[in-house]
This record gives sequence, C-alpha cells and structure tokens, in this order.
Amino acid sequence: MTDPIEELVQQAQADIAACGDERTLETLRVELLGKKGRVTELLKQLGGMAPDQRKAFGERVNRAKDALSAALESRGATLAESTLAARLAAERIDVTLPGRGEASGGLHPITRTIQRIAEIFGEMGFERVEGPEIEDDFHNFGALNIPEAHPARAMADTFYVLNGERLLRTHTSPVQIRTMQQREKPPIRIICPGRVYRVDSDRTHSPMFHQMEGLYVAEKVSLADLKYDLQTFLSRFFERDIEALFRPSYFPFVEPGADVHIRWTLPDGSWRWLEVLGCGVVHPKVLEAVGIDSEKYSGYAFGMGMERMAMLRYGVDDLRLFFNNDLRFLEQFR
Ligand code: DAH
Repeated sequence: MTDPIEELVQQAQADIAACGDERTLETLRVELLGKKGRVTELLKQLGGMAPDQRKAFGERVNRAKDALSAALESRGATLAESTLAARLAAERIDVTLPGRGEASGGLHPITRTIQRIAEIFGEMGFERVEGPEIEDDFHNFGALNIPEAHPARAMADTFYVLNGERLLRTHTSPVQIRTMQQREKPPIRIICPGRVYRVDSDRTHSPMFHQMEGLYVAEKVSLADLKYDLQTFLSRFFERDIEALFRPSYFPFVEPGADVHIRWTLPDGSWRWLEVLGCGVVHPKVLEAVGIDSEKYSGYAFGMGMERMAMLRYGVDDLRLFFNNDLRFLEQFR
C-alpha cells in the first residue's frame, strides 16, 4: 500500500518541476499549502488518530510541508529569473543604432558681432554696460544737448509710449548719461551695446537695429586718443590695416564731431570711402548735465551700427536678412 504522504510529495514535486509560469505555480501553492490545501487536509486527520501514531504522522506531514515549501520557492526563483531574462531580451535597446543627428545651434551674426567688438574693446580697457530700451526725453535727448527743435525729436522719428512720457531709445547714447550719473567720478571707460528703434525701413534700415556706444572720460582725453583708439579697433575688427578718414560732422553731444569713413576695396579692385561710425569729443554741456567738471575732465564718445559692421565683415548686402530668421542665411554663420 502506498503511503499517502509520500505519494502527495512525489506528485506535488513533479507538478512543481513541470510548472512553467509564476501564476500556475501560485495556484499550485494554494492547492498544496493553502487553508483548504492538501497538506492542510492531511494535518486535519491528526485529530482522529491515536496519540502514539499522531506524533510520528505529524512530524512527517510537517517535513513534507517544509520540503514542498522549499521546492515551491526554488521553482519560483527560477521562473522569476527567466521572466526577467525574457523581458530583457524583448526590450533590448540597440545601442549601435546611429543617432538622429540633431543639429547644434549657433549664435546670430549680430550677437557674434557684438561679442567680437566687445572683446576687442574689453582688451583695450572698456567695460561693457547696458541701459534700458524704454527711455525718457532727458536721457535720450535733453542731457545729450539735443535742442528742442532738433529733427531727431520729431514724433515721426521714434516710437513714443505712455502718451509721450517715454520713448523707445533712438540710439545707445543715453547709456553714456546713465553711466556718468551712476559713477562717483571719472575715469569712465565703457561700451554699451543694445537695441535701438527708429521709424525707418528699407534695404539698409530696420525699425529695430543694434548700436554700440563708447565713452571714455578722464583727465586730458583728446581727439588724438579718439583717433588712435578707433584706428586700433577698426584694424583689429577687420583683421588688416584699415585706412580711416575722420570727416567733420555735427552731433549735438560732441564738439568737434566726426564721421569715420574707412577705405573699402571692392572685389573689382576699385575702392571708396564707407561711413562706419560717428564720434567726437564730449561736449562740455553733456558733462555738466551729469555734474562732471568740464574744466577738469574731458572725454570722447562714439556710436556705431552693429548691422553695418556685420554687413561689412560678412559681405551681406541686405540688412533685412538679419531679421527674417531664414535658417538658410543664419546657418552660414555657425
Ligand atoms: N548717437 C548717434 C546716432 O545714433 C551716433 C553717435 C555719434 C554717437 C557721435 C556718439 C557720437 O557717441 O559721439 O546717430
């Protein structure tokens, strides 16, 4: 006669070994060891046994229970391992696939031009400062000695906001004023790049464009310093000896004032003078407007268009290209 415990253990071990997935294994565990499971059923038989049989039988059932628990656990571990292996195989990432080739971005040619010019002036001792694009009449005009009737003040020449109380600055010159007001006293040596606005729009003018202002105020600053420094800058910017011509010109905030022209050779060998910036010796009235003693200090100032400089350096003939955001154009500067 076969032993029921032995028979159960053998059958169960065969079932466990044959079990192919974790869910079936769990069903099997409940069937064997659960509250109504077969091992539990065996234990219930203890109640009807004689005390001497009961002990031996009980011990054997418990051993069977331990053996089956161990078998279930080890089979469970094996199954979990192969489930994981199957998942890893199925979700395998092919690291040898080529990338999608995202193109890296680049700086806008105007940004590059500003950075380059700021770097050159930086090496010459100029500090970079910035000022607000929304200005008031005093900083944009009044303190710069721009008289009431000056054409630059005409409504048509700029954009006014807040019922004319504020305006979009028409040049970076107001940053000269703001900086001189903020500083204790000279020496002051700054460049101020930034956006400026005018009611102007054609192939060489845009209603928004960029300028860079320069200001140097100290004791005994002269026109000679201005000429030398601008000459140095221009040659460094264009990376060759630049012949510059200072032609007298009028700006209310300087005296004397000049337009600087550079000798520009065209591809066909011909050449002409090209205007690149305005400059001059700071007018005493400007120094006085900000409380600087014009007997003790003097200075020079200059202002230049960044688009203009970028067009010359890169050979761009239409200023609007800078603002159309056409990648075919912009990508050429990467
Ligand atoms: N602010 C002038 C303009 O926008 C440019 C300029 C000329 C700036 C002469 C200066 C200067 O500082 O000295 O046309």
